[in-house]
Amino acid sequence: MAAKLSIRHLSVRGKRVLVRVDFNVPIEGSCVTDDTRIVESLPTLLFLREKRARIILLAHLGRPGGKPVAGLSLEPVFKHLRKLLDDSRNIFFCPECIGPLAEAAVLALKDGDILLLENVRFHAGEEANNSTFSAELAQLGEIYINDAFGAAHRAHASTVGISSHLPFSATGLLVEKELYYLQGQLESPKRPFLVLLGGSKVSDKIGVIEALMERADKFLIGGAMAYTFLKVQGIPVGDSLVEVDDFGLAGKLLTLSKDSGVELLLPLDAVETLEIQPGAVCRNTPVFSQRRGVTRGWIGVDIGVKTRALYSAEIARAATILWNGPLGVFEIREFSSGTRIAAEAIAANSLSVSIIGGGDSVAAVRSFDLGNKMTFLSTGGGASLRLLEGRPLPGIDTLTEKK
Ligand code: 3PG
Repeated sequence: MAAKLSIRHLSVRGKRVLVRVDFNVPIEGSCVTDDTRIVESLPTLLFLREKRARIILLAHLGRPGGKPVAGLSLEPVFKHLRKLLDDSRNIFFCPECIGPLAEAAVLALKDGDILLLENVRFHAGEEANNSTFSAELAQLGEIYINDAFGAAHRAHASTVGISSHLPFSATGLLVEKELYYLQGQLESPKRPFLVLLGGSKVSDKIGVIEALMERADKFLIGGAMAYTFLKVQGIPVGDSLVEVDDFGLAGKLLTLSKDSGVELLLPLDAVETLEIQPGAVCRNTPVFSQRRGVTRGWIGVDIGVKTRALYSAEIARAATILWNGPLGVFEIREFSSGTRIAAEAIAANSLSVSIIGGGDSVAAVRSFDLGNKMTFLSTGGGASLRLLEGRPLPGIDTLTEKK
């Protein structure tokens, strides 16, 4: 990706600056239950406020399908943001994101004020990247900043279309941080460079494995995707989740790892259970070493005791660690040990650069209260995977190039 203009390069004083943020956060009732994404966007907001810009925030929440849905209003996010900024005087909410109401709210802004506009996905033009809708958004501001890393893989009006209607569009501070870790740090990583992959689908991670095969020293595989790799080698996996459609991919990756001499380690043992329920009976079973596999009728739900020791030792030796996808059903305490021990091993290797891809792996690390022990936690799920695959992010690709 060509270097992009940064928020730091622009003179914003007194200007109407449209900032696309990713405020797609979990909300229960009217309370934000995880405000990580909001907190992570604060440096950009504070930066612009300090420079006395007039800040207009564009964001989405959920998937309302192009029409207003009461439960997906950004108002609870606004209230939360106001609390975080500890200053209710200069922060406003507008229940529309285009049209006369939005225009009037923008007109009333003073230097340093912040205005959050209602969910852009309440309009069908957003996801369709409709040019009229993106022009309507664009005419509210003079400069566009994309700081919505988590939505940068979406080619929508507020992430892509909008920049073609404004003279300058630049990266925000969060997007810059994400690019620094997920791209810059992994271009020539400190070695050994270890990639820890879990989650359920091989197809979700194949692009990452292929893209990093030349740079990684070792891959450690866990999660349900490990059973697809085992099954394709003829090892019984009982009733574990396998993706028959991914057998070809799994076989291809095993061959690729042999050909390139980059080890792809699979679990030596697993925790198996009869039902994926809290309190269910579970036991450790050797999987790979004795070719015994998961017992018929049982389900593999976590990496086993030997695998945890092996993976922890590998993690302890690594200088760069990239982790994407939990190693077991970490949401259920009985099946969470593998994921927890891996997170603890990463936390203990304080000399390493540890980069945690977004989504479930970040949720897992946070659930063990180890977030602050990692070098970097990404705010993007799909976007971080896409970047790791070496594919362009439309929301960043379309920003003004740095001359
Ligand atoms: C996310 O939560 O991954 C981003 O905000 C993008 O949301 P989407 O998957 O609904 O496009």
